[in-house]
Amino acid sequence: MSLVVVANREPLRREGDGWVPAVGGLATALLPVLERRGGAWVAWGEKDAGSLPLLHYPPAAPRFAVHRLFLPPREVAGSYHGMANRTLWPLAHYLLDRVEIRRDFLTAYRSTNRRFAEAVLSLWDDPHIPVWVQDYHLMLVPALLRAARPQGRIGFFWHIPWPPPEVWQVLPWLEELLAGVLGADLVGLHTAEYVDNFLATCRLLPGAVVRGQRVLWQGRAVRVEAHPIGIDTARFRRWAAEPRIRERAARLRRAAGGRFVLVGVDRLDYTKGIPERLAAWERLLEQHPQWRGQATLYQIAVPSRTRLESYRQLKRRVDEQVGRINGAFMQDGWLPVRYLYRAFPPQELVAFYLAADVALVTPLRDGMNLVAQEYAWVTENGVLVLSNLAGAAAVLPEALRVNPYDVDGLAETLHGILASLAEGRGRRTWEARRAALKERVAALDVHGWAARFLASLEQAPAVPAGPPRR
Ligand code: ADP
Ligand code: F6P
Repeated sequence: MSLVVVANREPLRREGDGWVPAVGGLATALLPVLERRGGAWVAWGEKDAGSLPLLHYPPAAPRFAVHRLFLPPREVAGSYHGMANRTLWPLAHYLLDRVEIRRDFLTAYRSTNRRFAEAVLSLWDDPHIPVWVQDYHLMLVPALLRAARPQGRIGFFWHIPWPPPEVWQVLPWLEELLAGVLGADLVGLHTAEYVDNFLATCRLLPGAVVRGQRVLWQGRAVRVEAHPIGIDTARFRRWAAEPRIRERAARLRRAAGGRFVLVGVDRLDYTKGIPERLAAWERLLEQHPQWRGQATLYQIAVPSRTRLESYRQLKRRVDEQVGRINGAFMQDGWLPVRYLYRAFPPQELVAFYLAADVALVTPLRDGMNLVAQEYAWVTENGVLVLSNLAGAAAVLPEALRVNPYDVDGLAETLHGILASLAEGRGRRTWEARRAALKERVAALDVHGWAARFLASLEQAPAVPAGPPRR
């Protein structure tokens, strides 16, 4: 075993008799890394996906093992559906009016984190093997591991935005969670802005001293670094070259009718800015009627966190908007919005990317947003419209930036893009942007991301590990 990844989400989901990649940035990014490097992945085993405690993947020639942890439903309710998705998720995305502060969430979260740590300890027999803990579901795990293995190599990666301390101060148990994360030797975040925010937040923790990009804590130095995540570029390139996928892309264009295809691909999450995007599309069709019958938006939304009322509400809102827009503007078989509410295998998404003249990636906040990279990498003549509030905006400066809250502004930007494409204006500029974006995405490749993070984790700690201070 060369690496232990610990993540709430398993890398695969059940489809029919087989397993396909799970949806979500973390799983889609780390799955190819484990396939290449081998190792173990410890995750919550969702009962719907079967009761196997151990899964070797890929089944024909196993490269890594998924250790599936079965958690009591009440604990999942408090920890995953509660603390992770109703407290930390909205907080990290700056949506403070959605944050729920409940002590029973914290109790369940502590207990789930303990179970994850115990599962890791039961298979982590060599402290030189790095353990890489992922994301906001498992903030307490690094410190639990540290207490048991003071010399162990422990990394932690935060996949979502890290907001400034003023936002974190809303959380009554911030100190406990931060102390949990600081059990790691290395904390990774996507951007320099998140790193700065993390360090500033550590200043709130009594006993922690921030020195440059290090946090001195309990006799150790915890390094904090920006490691922007990427996609598996080789895999996406292969998919984009497959004749079956290219034919599907052509079919999608034909089915849309008209001249232009736009695409949005998201988990159905209130952070993704889907209602605002649809409102901009509606505004455009109202104010610039020349695009009626000429441009179609494929909005793909994968069901996510459907047990939570906030996500159900969002679904009702989006259903209603799509119905209203199509009802108002549909003509002669042309639909302004083609809405697909389901998961697709990643290759199928590539067909949509290839088909689209414009991708709308307009989250209200996003840690990175891999869809932006996937589209920029695959498209041959498309335009990436990207929210300035996504981490991806920091690493893809050649994308066309928009403010996702500004519905009128977005509608006008889209009108401008469609007009320039229709008139063949600015072709050189679009080409130059596309080429520059492809270089950026190539440099961010996920295998390089993992290699850089793990190489940094391998480095000796800046301050020799001493006995933990009480
Ligand atoms: P998040 O992690 O918040 O879901 P990202 O954009 O970083 O956001 O990652 C989403 C990942 O899930 C991408 O790799 C994307 O291809 C995948 N994905 C998004 N929508 C779907 C869908 N409908 N079906 C399958 N995969 C999807
Ligand atoms: O990339 C951010 C992330 O929150 C992952 O941690 C998570 O696995 C993914 O999005 C999808 O969410 P969920 O695991 O709740 O389905």
